[in-house]
Parts: sequence; structure tokens; C-alpha cells
Amino acid sequence: MSLVLGIESSCDETSVALLDGAGRIRASVVSSQLAEHGPYGGVVPEIAARAHLANLAPLLERALEEARTPLADVTLVGATAGPGLVGALLVGLSEGKGLSLGLGIPFAAVHHVEAHCLSPFLRPGADARDVPARFHALVLSGGHSHLFRFAPEGIEVVARTRDDAAGEAYDKVAKLAGLGYPGGPILDRLARRGRPERPFAVPEFKDGALDFSFSGLKTAVRERLVEAGLSFGTATPGDRLRVDEVTAPRALADVAADFQEAVARQVERRLERARERDRIEFLTVSGGVAANSLLRERLAAWGAARGVEVLLADRSLTGDNAAMIAFAALVRLRAGREAGGLDAAPRSRWPLETLPAPVG
Ligand code: KG4
Ligand code: ZN
Repeated sequence: MSLVLGIESSCDETSVALLDGAGRIRASVVSSQLAEHGPYGGVVPEIAARAHLANLAPLLERALEEARTPLADVTLVGATAGPGLVGALLVGLSEGKGLSLGLGIPFAAVHHVEAHCLSPFLRPGADARDVPARFHALVLSGGHSHLFRFAPEGIEVVARTRDDAAGEAYDKVAKLAGLGYPGGPILDRLARRGRPERPFAVPEFKDGALDFSFSGLKTAVRERLVEAGLSFGTATPGDRLRVDEVTAPRALADVAADFQEAVARQVERRLERARERDRIEFLTVSGGVAANSLLRERLAAWGAARGVEVLLADRSLTGDNAAMIAFAALVRLRAGREAGGLDAAPRSRWPLETLPAPVG
């Protein structure tokens, strides 16, 4: 048996996973630190690093139990080297390097955003799909909103956000409405109870760029919440949730529906423009916001209508997880195109487009 061990510790999720050589997930365990950071209204780097350190060893043990395999069967270790919180990254990276040295097996430094881009190729319960030489990748998470073009010549940024990430917009809007954190899943459910009847505008740039922008939408939502007497705009970090999604008024559900519709429409429009410029045959969609119910429906329909194969990350793999880290390590090692080895340092910033293509 040969297994790939993946370790993720870039932000507030500690995760360990084991994949076999065909990319089938043999174990995947994630420990979220929501409770630790909750009282501060955001991720506290020092607390994240300490929590990773406390969580990692027990998670590794659990993953090995889940896969019913001894550590000695692991033949490759991959750990996230960036981008992310340096202190947090250092914990998983050091653990990965230590295991690699101790077991005498190769180590692969993994780019977190690339791992998201590749995560839709993973199929829980089955072998992973082959990664084609050319594809587009849409990553929408709490920290990233990017459309990349992967090709043998290299990785290119087609669009990026000029202000907030899509998930950040969800989280900020939820906070303005007095809802809890993270805002994405709450607003997603709430929006399903409302009706989108007063559309928010989709921003366009004068220079014709395909870039995303979500901060204007956030401001427009704030104004509408104020107008309807539904704003908690003065909420300070750490404030407890004050509006329960279950008993939230219909008017709030309607605003959530309009907001969710505006996010989906902006994404559709950007993809449409990207397709006018360049052939898109294959599109992966990943990151926390790829769990969004409306976005999933709309992007699947968008692809079906245009003959574009749209591969959505499995809902269990949209958030940060180590299965995608192990997979990115496996893909690059197989192609002999590692992003870094034992000398890799943790990096808070690490533009993906500086890496060579993962497959050629
Ligand atoms: O990828 P992720 O787990 O962490 C980052 O690397 O950022 O993404 C987390 C983000 C949060 O902003 C969260 O609100 C958002 O993903 N999210 C969603 C949904 N589930 C999570 N956004 C919209 N709809 C959802 N169902
Ligand atoms: Zn992420």
C-alpha cells in the first residue's frame, strides 16, 4: 500500500488526510477552531498556531485509525506552505517535514489555493479524476476570489477581486444583519426563504477587466438594511448573534435572496466574459463559497447550456481540508513538478501564477 499524507494548517482549520495512489480518500479529518476564535470576531493568529499544535498529533492518529493503516505505509507527505498565517503554517509544515525525514520519504510543499483549484477532481468514495493539461479554475473562499487559467505553459490569473473576497462579503453582510459567523451558510439558508425582487447592480470596470468586486454590493446591502430598519451596522467584533435565522423577518430573507442573487450573477457574468475572450472547456469551482446552493445550481446550468464541463468541488471538500493538500502533492510529484521541498519556508503571500503548471 502506498499512501499520501496531507496536512493543512494555513488558517483556522487543522486537517490531516490520507489518499491512496489513485487519489481515493482513505481518511480525512478536520478540526475547526470556530469556538476558539468566536469571541474575538475573527481569526487570532497566535491562537490558531497554538490550536494547530494541540490538534495535529491527535488528528494524525485518528486519520491512521480511519484508514486502518500504519504510518509506515505513507510514501509521500504534503503540507501547506502558503499562502496563510505564517505561525499557523509553520506548525503543519514542520510536522510534515519531520515525518518525511523520520520516515525517509519525499516531502512536497503545497500551495493552498492550487489545492482548492484541484479539489473538484477528488471524488469521495472513488478514485480521483485525471487532471487535464488545460482547465479554468474558479476559487471563491473567505480569503480568495480568483479565476485562473491552467495550461502547460503556466498558470495565469484571468480575474481576481479588487476588494473583498466573495466569502468575506457573505460574512460581512451577515454581520451587518446581526446574524452569526460564518455568514455564508446562514445567508444561504435564509435566502432560500426569501424572494429576490429588488436586484442589486452588478459592478463593471471601465477598463474592461474581468475582476470581481464585492464591497460595493456590501455597501448597497447595508443601505437597504438601514432603510428597512434591519441593520446591526454598529455591531462590534465579538458581539453575539442577535438575529436568529429561524425567526428572522421575511424582509431580511428577501434582502439575503437579493444579495445571493447578485453574487451569483456577478460570477456568471465574469465567466461569460472570460468565455468570450478565451475558450473555456473545463471549469473547476472550489473554496468555501462553492458550497453555496444557488451558485452550484446556476454554474451547473451555465455549463450545461454552453457545453462547458463544470466540475464543482464535493460539498464535503469546499472548505479547507487536507485531502486537497494531499492530492495537490500527489499530482505535482507524479509530474515531477513539486512546488517546493524540505527547504520550503512558510509564506503569507505566494502568488499562484509564479508556479509552473502542475501537469504538462
Ligand atoms: O475556503 P474556506 O473554508 O476558508 C478560506 O480559505 O477562506 O471559505 C470560508 C468562506 C466563509 O467566508 C464562509 O462564509 C463561506 O466560505 N461559505 C459560504 C457557504 N459556506 C461557506 N458562502 C456562501 N454560501 C455558503 N453555503
Ligand atoms: Zn482555503
